[in-house]
Amino acid sequence: MIIAQISDTHIALDTPDTGQRLQDFQSVIADINALDPAPDVIVHTGDIVHNGREDEYAAAASILEQAHAPVYVMVGNKDDRPNLRAAFSGSGYLDEGSQFIDYAVEDFSLRLIMLDTLSPGDNRGDFCAERISRLTDMIDAEGSRPIVVFTHHPPFEVTVGPDPIHYRDLEAMSDLREALRQSGRVAGVFCGHVHRATSGDIEGIPATVMSAVSTTLRKGEYPPHMTARPVYQVHRFAPDGQFVTETRIAGKPSQIVA
Ligand SMILES: [Fe+2]
Repeated sequence: MIIAQISDTHIALDTPDTGQRLQDFQSVIADINALDPAPDVIVHTGDIVHNGREDEYAAAASILEQAHAPVYVMVGNKDDRPNLRAAFSGSGYLDEGSQFIDYAVEDFSLRLIMLDTLSPGDNRGDFCAERISRLTDMIDAEGSRPIVVFTHHPPFEVTVGPDPIHYRDLEAMSDLREALRQSGRVAGVFCGHVHRATSGDIEGIPATVMSAVSTTLRKGEYPPHMTARPVYQVHRFAPDGQFVTETRIAGKPSQIVA
């Protein structure tokens, strides 16, 4: 199974870099569409838009509509649950019966579980008892296939950048880690939020963070020829039960948008 992960596109319509953010998003979708073999699925791990506005979601949705593979979205700290839900309600995969935007995707050889770590008004993540319960129910709903989990805020200590912990309290992060460990079937956890690539470990489960797609918001050093070239990741599930992750550079050097 091949999963293309994109994250932190932060679409905004009234900033000096509006055009660049849109271009970065379009570039990664075009690059994903050209992959051979094609990915089975595209997952956006949150911060789709920057201010949670309806018009921002409309712009983001119009770009995602260009994708050839099925797309699944989830919330980051900059997202707005009601407006995201409204923009993607036609997709059919969002659970309309919960305030949380968490769900399982059962259409593939791996089960995909998308988590909602949003804490409205706070850039840090949260994972309350209700979300633990919902995660446990999703894990227990099917017992044979491996699981891959997507979450905006990484539930492990991040050793790059200024903030090692991205949850409001350590107990919430610890509870999430324990729920994932207990399942015994989570093959990998893929995250966003930090805007730079890194990796970690969740009680023995390998976990990674991808950089932000938005070239104007990503952190870390990039060589000059990559200034306006967004990156994203492709996770290929190998026969040995492990993921092999490729970081791809999209776009062309000339695509700097004034
Ligand atoms: Fe972000």
